[in-house]
Amino acid sequence: MNTISRVVATTATLTLALGAVAACGANDGAGDGDSDEALTIALLLPETKTTRYETHDKPLFEAKVKDLCDTCTVTYLNADQDAAKQQQQAESAITNGAAVLVLDPVDGKAATTIVKSAQSSDVPVIAYDRFIEGADYYISFDNERVGTIQGESLIEATGGEGEILMLNGSPTDPNAAQFKKGAHGAIDGSGLEIVAEYDNPDWSPDNAQKFTSSQFNKFDPEDLAGVYAANDGQAGGVFAAFKAAGVTDVPPITGQDAELAAIQRIISGQQYMTVYKPIKDEAEKAAELAVALAKGEEVSGTTDFDGVASFILDPVPVTKDNVADTVVADGFHAVEDICTDEYADACRDAGLS
Ligand code: GAL
Repeated sequence: MNTISRVVATTATLTLALGAVAACGANDGAGDGDSDEALTIALLLPETKTTRYETHDKPLFEAKVKDLCDTCTVTYLNADQDAAKQQQQAESAITNGAAVLVLDPVDGKAATTIVKSAQSSDVPVIAYDRFIEGADYYISFDNERVGTIQGESLIEATGGEGEILMLNGSPTDPNAAQFKKGAHGAIDGSGLEIVAEYDNPDWSPDNAQKFTSSQFNKFDPEDLAGVYAANDGQAGGVFAAFKAAGVTDVPPITGQDAELAAIQRIISGQQYMTVYKPIKDEAEKAAELAVALAKGEEVSGTTDFDGVASFILDPVPVTKDNVADTVVADGFHAVEDICTDEYADACRDAGLS
């Protein structure tokens, strides 16, 4: 078990001390324990091409805040993969009196500037999904474990032999480095040979397709044993590249996020696996934490991650065999959404209908 796994706090409960701590300073947004006080929570997400953010994170977070706090309002801001835009969004949220920032940074390093600026106005920052040094809290999954799961799955699917391509996430995303570390940890000692590796700016599915197609000038796509793709968006681009090259027997491709399109590819044999991260747990924990901080209440039950009080959740591997027991059982995707006419046969095979 690695260090991160040992500190996994899946079951850690967020306990809020009843005695509210006055947290007002230069910024008036932070609460003083008065239950009628109007409070604004800013939710800053990094991009829209990955479907999780606007389909799951945003609505789940907003619903939980509404549930917990009548007087709280969520201001939602999406940076469209632009770190400078995110910086401006954060500054305007602070200026407009946000009591707390829930920040999923486009660029983890650049976001330390946002953290400093927020803290100098007494606005606490929750690093959401991606780590930011100096943040007040961090909530995410065990991201190195995500990479290990992906690497091990690819070894299993390929029999652990042959040449593969490796597509990692954005170099500015701290998670991408953790996924990559976990995946290399599994793959490097195996019989799989990484013949080309790419750190994909912006996690772009289009870039993933272009990179993969360009490799077909050097390697016969029919000879590749598999492809490590760090998330489902990229897996979609990789699959499209194989199709465009006329390959009918596409080799195993990994993914992450359990996107609807990826689940459909998995049940129809076009993608080998994905990693399901129960975003409900992550978004709701972040909402509980944000409301507590906005009201100036104390938080406990955290674990340490690189010096930041954290909640670290467990990722779940998904292949055709356990789609029903994971994403469907959890209500992450409804059978009717997966099993459109095109996937009717695949759904029967996967035990979904
Ligand atoms: C990661 C995140 C993944 C995926 C990716 C692309 O940081 O953990 O779930 O969405 O970014 O945005």
